[in-house]
Order: sequence, then structure tokens, then C-alpha cells
Amino acid sequence: MTRPSLPADSAPRDFEIARADGDLLFDAEGGAYLDLLSGGGTVLLGHCRPAIVDALRTQADTLWNTGAVPVDVRAEASAALERFLPGALRPAVFYSTGMEAAEFALRLARQVTGRRAAVGFDHAMHGKSQATAALGWPNELATLTDFHRLPYLPETTEGDVLERLRATLAAHEVAAVFFEPLLGSFGGHCPSRAFGQSLGELCAEGGALLVVDEILTGFHRCGPAFLHADLGVAPDVLLVGKAMGNGFPVAAVAADRRYPLPPAALPGSTFAGNPLAAAVVATTLTEMEALDLPALVARVEAAVRAGLAGVGEDGAVLRGRGALWILELPDAERVARIMEHLLRERVVASPTARFLRLMPPATIGDEHLARACRVIAQACRATAPVR
Ligand SMILES: Cc1ncc(COP(=O)(O)O)c(C=O)c1O
Repeated sequence: MTRPSLPADSAPRDFEIARADGDLLFDAEGGAYLDLLSGGGTVLLGHCRPAIVDALRTQADTLWNTGAVPVDVRAEASAALERFLPGALRPAVFYSTGMEAAEFALRLARQVTGRRAAVGFDHAMHGKSQATAALGWPNELATLTDFHRLPYLPETTEGDVLERLRATLAAHEVAAVFFEPLLGSFGGHCPSRAFGQSLGELCAEGGALLVVDEILTGFHRCGPAFLHADLGVAPDVLLVGKAMGNGFPVAAVAADRRYPLPPAALPGSTFAGNPLAAAVVATTLTEMEALDLPALVARVEAAVRAGLAGVGEDGAVLRGRGALWILELPDAERVARIMEHLLRERVVASPTARFLRLMPPATIGDEHLARACRVIAQACRATAPVR
């Protein structure tokens, strides 16, 4: 019987992690694995970073949840987030997941514009609720009235995407256009700056809010604090999450200061901005400011580019930036075989369909990173069809 191929987003049986430290995961027997998954791109500063663990412990001894009642630590988290944001944006509300943040952005856009329709692009990831799934990756669950998911890269050109967007904005009362600057759950495609500028202009002309989703790319994961700046995009609403909690569940919505935050947009939820999450955010962001994250991430980029320069010869395409890289293989079966090779060599990455995502912590050690790249290059070579 042939061994079943590794299903997307899952690890093989007999692979269980008991603890983590920095750029390493450890199984129950103490075996170490190099972590290029970093908790779905969340653990940008490495696992169990002492200052963040301390902040969480102290907060756990003090106060867990007050619901919507104000707490100092939430104000601290909000102020820390504001230090990272472009001047036009202010923190609006914290959530526990990116999907909730994206849902709120949609409600906010509907309230601000008085319109209903929403536009997203193929292969983007904004979450797995009905509404957020309808705006991103192709799936059959999520087809909703007033939602328009347009063809995107790589299936069509930037010019065609913009033309279709123009037509959709003309034909419908669009409240929001959702945009992920780099397709981090697909092939890593990133459009040109000219595209970014036209996208902003079209949204402004069409009266739709531009919601930029930097839940994965934000906080220097791809180099700059936020990738939209490199693309010449000025978001009306910015979604952030993942690295902001270094693995703790938290996300947030930032909105242009011009827009009110009407209660009718239903901000908040039971756990929104809870003190545990807020303490982690305040400390994680302060830790980020003390590090030279752009330099750390540039170092990761240089090592990945050099270490995986040859994978093209073995049928893999490498795309990405900073500390977010995606290897595209011809099919999921090849990805599964590469993953088996990586796990034998004790390297953990993130397989999804025909893609293998590499998202190391920015703090990964030079030797670990070089070794991981060597193992990945070997895996690509070992699984390549015989030439
Ligand atoms: C860009 C982006 N947006 C939104 C989400 C959804 O976040 P969550 O899984 O926290 O709901 C993800 C998750 O991977 C993501 O990568």
C-alpha cells in the first residue's frame, strides 16, 4: 500500500511538539526541530521570549478579563500599536483572531459608506468565517450576496485586475475592497508599486474603503513595518495580528482618523482586548522596538535567497520577502515528499497544497538558518524528477 500523502496544513502522525524555545521546537523526548513555521507566522521574535513570558505571567497573576470595562494595560497596548502605525491611522479595536478583525473592518466600512458590497481577490487570506472566506481563497463554502471575489495574480495580469475592479466599482455600491499585499497563504505573489497606487486611486474614486490586510506581513515580517508603504498604498483600514502577539491570540483593526467608530458597527467581543492579550501586545511591540528588526529580517532574506538560489533547477519557484518565503512545487504530492524529508532532518515548515511556506522567527540563529536552507535545498533536489 502506498503511504498517503501529507494532507495540507497537517503534520505526520508520531510528530508532536511538547515545548519550544527561540527558533526550536522540542518533542516529548527532547528532540529538537528547527522551526520555520513559527506558529503560522506569529512567533516573529522566537518562542517563549523571556520578557513576553514575564509580562504574561505577571498579568495572569493580576487580571484576566474585564469585558469592555477600561483597563490600563489595554491603553498601553493601544499606544504601543499606534507607535507602529502610519500617522493617518489610529487603533480602533482589538480582537483575538484576524478573522474577527476582518469582519469588523467590513462592518465598519458598511457603516462609514452606507453601502453593502465587498470586493476581494482570489488567493488572498482574510480568515475562515463565511464573510472573510468569501473575500479570499477559492472555496465552495463561501458564496454570499454582495461579495465579489475577482481574479488575481498569477492567473491574470495587474492591468486586468484593475480593469475588473474598475468595472465592479462602477456596477455595485462597494463599501470595502480587501487587499493582501503579498499572497502569504498562496504563491507569495506581490504586485508592483504602480498597481498599489492605482488600487488606492480606484477605491477613492469609487467611494470604497481600502482594507489592507497585514495580519501576516505586518511588524517587519517582510522588511518594512508594513508592506503597503512599499507598494504606495495608503489604507483606509489596516488589519494587523499574528506577530503583534508573538504567538498569543490577538489581532486589531486600525482605521483612518477621519472615520468615526459607530456603535452600529458592533465593535468588540467577549475577549476583545482582554488584559492578557493586551499585556502581551504591549511587551511584544516594546521588544520589537528594542531590536533592529529590519536588519534581522534583511539577514534572513539574504540567507534564504543565497541558500535556495538553486531550487529553480529542481522544479521549485521561490517567492517572498524578508522572513516570509513560499516555495511553489508542481503539486501537493511533491510538497508532501519534501516535508517528509524535512521532518527526517528535523526541520518544520508549513505545507499547503502545492506550496511550502517558510516563516522563520526573525531572531533565528545564522547557523540554524543556513542549515534549514541546506536541508530544504537537498529535499528539493532529492525529490526532483530524474533528469
Ligand atoms: C493575511 C491573513 N489575514 C487573515 C488571517 C486570518 O487570521 P486568523 O487565523 O487569526 O483568523 C490570516 C491567517 O492566516 C492571514 O494570513
